Amino acid sequence: VKTVVDKQIGGPCNPKIRKGESKVVDTVDIEELGNKAVFCRCWRSSKFPYCDGTHNQHNVACGDNVGPLIVKKKD
Ligand code: FES
Repeated sequence: VKTVVDKQIGGPCNPKIRKGESKVVDTVDIEELGNKAVFCRCWRSSKFPYCDGTHNQHNVACGDNVGPLIVKKKD
């Protein structure tokens, strides 16, 4: 457990999104999501909090494996 905690202290996970805010919080109304919404979890999307596919470049550049959170209605 200590090793995992040490790695997390290495630096911020958010490199540039709304750095002037003390905490980045987004609220999305469920009624406005439609059938599917794709949310960014890599903190590099230009459409944050939505995914724009930038996680692919991030993963290649640094060997990471992050991807989006997909919220969808059942078929
Ligand atoms: Fe961040 Fe897709 S751009 S998860």
